[in-house]
Amino acid sequence: MCGIFAYVGPRNNAAKIVLDGLRLLEYRGYDSWGIAAKIENALRSSEPKDLRRKLKLENSKILLEKHVGKIGNAKLNSQFSTFKSRVAIGHTRWATHGGVTVKNAHPHLDCTKTIAVLHNGIIENFAEIKKELIKKGHKFISETDTEVASHLIEDNLKTHNFLDSTRLAFNQFKGMNALVILNANSNKIVAVKNGSPLVVGIGRNEMFIASDAAGIAKHTKQVIFLEDNQMVEIGKTLSLYSLPSGKAIKYKTATLEWDFEEADRGKYKHFLMKEIAEQPTVVENIATTRDSEVKSFSEVIRAATGTFFLGCGTASYAALAGTYLFSRIAKHHVNFSIGSEFKYLEDYLTPKSLVVAISQSGETIDVIEPINHAKARGAQIGAIVNVIGSTLYRTADHKILLGAGPEIAVVGTKSFIAMFSLLLLIAFALTGNLSHGKKILLKAAKNTKTILKDSYLTKIRRVAKQLARAKHIYVLGRGLSYATALEATLKIKETSCIHAEGFAGGELKHGVMALIEKGTPVIVFAPNDETHDEIISNAQEVKARGAFVIGIGPRNNDIFDKFLPTEDLGDATLISQITISQLLAYFLALEVGIKDPDKPRNLAKSVTVK
Ligand code: G6P
Repeated sequence: MCGIFAYVGPRNNAAKIVLDGLRLLEYRGYDSWGIAAKIENALRSSEPKDLRRKLKLENSKILLEKHVGKIGNAKLNSQFSTFKSRVAIGHTRWATHGGVTVKNAHPHLDCTKTIAVLHNGIIENFAEIKKELIKKGHKFISETDTEVASHLIEDNLKTHNFLDSTRLAFNQFKGMNALVILNANSNKIVAVKNGSPLVVGIGRNEMFIASDAAGIAKHTKQVIFLEDNQMVEIGKTLSLYSLPSGKAIKYKTATLEWDFEEADRGKYKHFLMKEIAEQPTVVENIATTRDSEVKSFSEVIRAATGTFFLGCGTASYAALAGTYLFSRIAKHHVNFSIGSEFKYLEDYLTPKSLVVAISQSGETIDVIEPINHAKARGAQIGAIVNVIGSTLYRTADHKILLGAGPEIAVVGTKSFIAMFSLLLLIAFALTGNLSHGKKILLKAAKNTKTILKDSYLTKIRRVAKQLARAKHIYVLGRGLSYATALEATLKIKETSCIHAEGFAGGELKHGVMALIEKGTPVIVFAPNDETHDEIISNAQEVKARGAFVIGIGPRNNDIFDKFLPTEDLGDATLISQITISQLLAYFLALEVGIKDPDKPRNLAKSVTVK
């Protein structure tokens, strides 16, 4: 998490270029943001000589601007348009150490105000380094772990050059980190990484650094994806070094062969609603254009001895749904693990194992770390991923793209539906009956179009109105619908900030029942499959204790207080059920007065810290 953008080149408005770059990276964190630029002469020769003094900038070559909150349509303060800046760095933060305050926003300066540092990650041993630096007289302003980097580099600069000072500081840090450092005594930026992603863009006489290629693509297509334990220095030229030694190494550039569409909201008020509305098209595209990729991915799974599906958040529920699909449809055993838990299971891995990581961004650290471990053990890596060129995309031996298009809302919607649709097709491809999978996906796409019609939306909105005052919402399902229940719950939590919990229907009597009282809302997923009768019994049990029961599925039942119908789409019924749940979550958010459902509090779309 945290978006990083840096520029060095001949243009006079580096700070503005950085601000525009940061806007594209805001999905990585939006607690606060900041920019540091090395300022030169005033842009207009008519500016008074004592302008620097007037602006209290006498001894500083760095102009700094920091704010709490989202960038939105923010403009830079007027000082940035007064002075030329050709080197600038900027950051949009997702707080780890230190509260969400202006002081804790990046960049962080050293005591001399010539070093500015941006950081993504956690410097795990920052406390002991800070103690030493304080003993030496350094004055800290923030509560962050990051600030130790600026002061340690400042300290090292007494005896070393800029590059070595950065290298020696980084070598001392524990944890997975990416740092970008501007030194106002040079026209250079140094970046170094271990874990978190960084991409260098090479333009005409100008260079960029960003947390992902999307930020750079509009300036240049020539890039270097920094590997772990590499350090790069950019200025008029570019040099690459390996760490910890600092040995110069040759670099290889890659060409971005894709365009990053800059998504706009179109007629919709929020990206969330727009992206839900795109789902029928996403499903249709998957059902009609992906046969050969799906078949070859299914062969990779067939050839493996032991397959694991991994993911985090929404992707983990797609992975869990995948295990049910593979059992039901393909009679093929697949293991499931949450990404962050996989390291405790990896002892099972052999060179014949296949680890399939499922991820929208392809950058989630809790997915990247386990696949790196799995790779080191010789296992094959598969990826089901949306962002082309992401770390996961580049690391995997076998990959299949979601093709869902850019997903801007932090809450995953169409990416989940694309993950599920591909997993369903891969399972059918294993049986040799891909055409049946395609058929039910197309039916599901049609059904979701009906759900997205005004008459149906009004129905969901009415239910949302009834649930808006609830303190807790419980969601039940069995089998594939258990994964559905967990994903529906996550949507409600993230979007409306109402507490929601999903349970397997069978677990009800093992504790959950204690939570049910008169009026407690319980959503029940009841598709026309082998789980139907048992989940209806569970619905009876909660109803008997006073629950307000909302049924979602193809068949109505007297037990339901409210019923939101889907067609019977076999295993693809989940697509309609989840679409209804996403819409319910969206309307709940509006009902409870959430201002920006695209950016829920405390979350980020790409989670690159552990
Ligand atoms: C974050 C997002 C979730 C997402 C999860 C996994 O927590 O807020 O919406 O499901 O990361 O992201 P990925 O990019 O790996 O699918």
